[in-house]
Amino acid sequence: MKAIVLKEAGGPENLVLEELPVPAVGPEEVLVAVQSVSINPIDAKTRSGKGLYPVLKYEDPLIPGWDISGRVVEAGSKVSAFKKDDEVFGMINFPGHGKAYAEYVAAPAAHLTGKPANISHHEAAAASLAALTAWQSLHAFTTLKKGQRVLIHAAAGGVGHFAVQIARRAGAWVAGTASTANRGFVLETGAHQFIDYTAGTLEDQIADIDIVLDTIGGDTIDHSLKVMKKGAIIVSIPSGRNEAVARKAEAAGMLGHTFKVQSDGKDMKILASLLEQGMIRSHISRIYDFAHIAAAHAQIETGHTVGKIVATPA
Ligand SMILES: NC(=O)c1ccc[n+]([C@@H]2O[C@H](COP(=O)([O-])OP(=O)(O)OC[C@H]3O[C@@H](n4cnc5c(N)ncnc54)[C@H](OP(=O)(O)O)[C@@H]3O)[C@@H](O)[C@H]2O)c1
Repeated sequence: MKAIVLKEAGGPENLVLEELPVPAVGPEEVLVAVQSVSINPIDAKTRSGKGLYPVLKYEDPLIPGWDISGRVVEAGSKVSAFKKDDEVFGMINFPGHGKAYAEYVAAPAAHLTGKPANISHHEAAAASLAALTAWQSLHAFTTLKKGQRVLIHAAAGGVGHFAVQIARRAGAWVAGTASTANRGFVLETGAHQFIDYTAGTLEDQIADIDIVLDTIGGDTIDHSLKVMKKGAIIVSIPSGRNEAVARKAEAAGMLGHTFKVQSDGKDMKILASLLEQGMIRSHISRIYDFAHIAAAHAQIETGHTVGKIVATPA
């Protein structure tokens, strides 16, 4: 099978397309013929030697990526949830070795769910790590309710565009930050208010927030605390830029949490239901193929991708 292998940490050119044996399927796994993989910032961080590279560097071959959508070609002896020809998607073995950038992936059945028939494999792969992060981070420390004021940072990005939709669907009033060019996209995604981070401080544009999803870290935490109600909650996800969030929030009379996404087929099933009902949608700004995976990594590293990018092994 074709697979992308990371030879050593470094630039996008270190991702090499190779011919590898199809993986053996374990008793609790299914072998998936991959139709689409999605590309996330953690893929590029890991490739560059940060992210999960310290955990994965002894893997040989190291196959990057975690998000897949495809068709089951074989089910392990203990798998009852899926059978041959089922269409499935999910975030595989995170935080571990996902091995997603391949034509075939041996995936734990417990990390997958059925792909809704009314969405494409690209839309499904795109709604894995990013949508799961939005869902889990907004539900880990808060109960989203009607009438709450929710602020989503980087609302035009992978996690953000799902978070806006999830919070809106729960009945919350939602504001989203992005640069000027993404105003239309953020409002069309479902935000009630667009906040242009290039047009002044957060404090000048909004107040009285109950829940913040911080996807940026650093100063964004300080500014967010200034627009939150006393006792409000900030959940911060960018590792390496958010370790002070609990301390800073406590000092300001608020609650701050860091959060890390985890593979979970049960949460994927909830997302699949929302996708099937059209309550959330994946926005895909570009589709790459494996031969151009380096360009996909260069794009995600800009930090300005709109919605999601995906890649196809074909
Ligand atoms: N802890 C976890 O489990 C977890 C899970 C998923 C992701 N993450 C991390 O969360 C971060 C976001 O992930 P993602 O997948 O959403 O990334 P992404 O898709 O690459 O985000 C791109 C978006 O960020 C926006 N952006 C850039 N700078 C901004 C700023 N200063 N203020 C507001 N928006 C800004 C861009 O909008 P403009 O072009 O308009 O600037 C762009 O649309 C990454 O650091 C990722 O590694 C953590």
